[in-house]
Amino acid sequence: MPSQNNRNSIRTLKAAEEDLLTLLRDNRESFLSTREISDKLELHPYVIYQTIKELRRWDFEIASEKGKGYKLLEAPQFLLSAEIREKLKTRILGKEILSYRTVGSTNDLGFRLAEGGAAEGTLIVSDQQTKGRGRMGRGWYSPPKLGLWMSLILRPQVPPYKAPGLSICAGLALAQAIQDLSGLDARIKWPNDCLINDKKVGGILLELSAELDRTNFVIAGIGVNVNHQPGDFPKKLSAKVTSIRMEWGRELSRMELLISFLERFEAIYLDFKSNGLTHQRRLIKKLSSLLGRKVQVKFGKEIIEGQAQDIDDNGSLIIKTKKGERAVRAGEVTVV
Ligand code: BTN
Repeated sequence: MPSQNNRNSIRTLKAAEEDLLTLLRDNRESFLSTREISDKLELHPYVIYQTIKELRRWDFEIASEKGKGYKLLEAPQFLLSAEIREKLKTRILGKEILSYRTVGSTNDLGFRLAEGGAAEGTLIVSDQQTKGRGRMGRGWYSPPKLGLWMSLILRPQVPPYKAPGLSICAGLALAQAIQDLSGLDARIKWPNDCLINDKKVGGILLELSAELDRTNFVIAGIGVNVNHQPGDFPKKLSAKVTSIRMEWGRELSRMELLISFLERFEAIYLDFKSNGLTHQRRLIKKLSSLLGRKVQVKFGKEIIEGQAQDIDDNGSLIIKTKKGERAVRAGEVTVV
């Protein structure tokens, strides 16, 4: 079968495909006849035939036997919106889900959708990104099947200067989800990284559309290296990065991680909208990889050196320097 990647890059599974898939998944033991499908889903037999064809293009292995009907044998590896929806117990995050096999960047797509009015909480997830973006104009390596690459459209009614606090909130939710599922000591590295054993396992790219006093929307892009093996990373990255599997010695279900992250992030996000970081600060500090350590922060052209002491209610990192305390709002931190 020819590769469908290009075709699929800008499409998601449509409603009929999702409904049929759910039905086939719920009846994996037996064949379902066209008649049964038609009765249950109120679809015309021709639509069923076309939908099966379409699902096969998405790499679903569906057996068909004359007189018996259809049976799902194998589902592809990417995260399906119908499956996410079924498992997710959130009110806002993931209310709309767009799941792709491959996109350029989920953040770019999220931005365009948000500009077009997409709802708060819309989740864009892709199995692969061909132009994944990191902070500071860097790329983000996003190969298929191994990681979690997603963006959330958020519309918090907070002034723009407060929105960056969401980066550390997402980091907190991610570290908690990893800890919960694997028992690994996942940490938050201010302002936007998630580390295990001092190596980067995840990163957050927060992008804002704002006016002076108003946040229109925020795109929270989250990338997690889940099931990579050492050889899966490009050489130039391998000293600094890791994956959950490399640290844990076992594969982790990307679906489980996604669900756990979204449920945790929603609770934190709702609290953040009313209370900022006030309630989350204690946990953020507890899971911080930096507090108490000597650090160097690059902030524009300035370099600030000292001991990381605190994270304040605005999400700023408080550094004790030779000249006194400095609150740093953003920057690139190195432990020295
Ligand atoms: C960083 O640590 O530099 C941030 C990395 C953020 C990567 C994620 S993957 C999903 C989303 N889409 C992107 O293009 N980037 C973010």
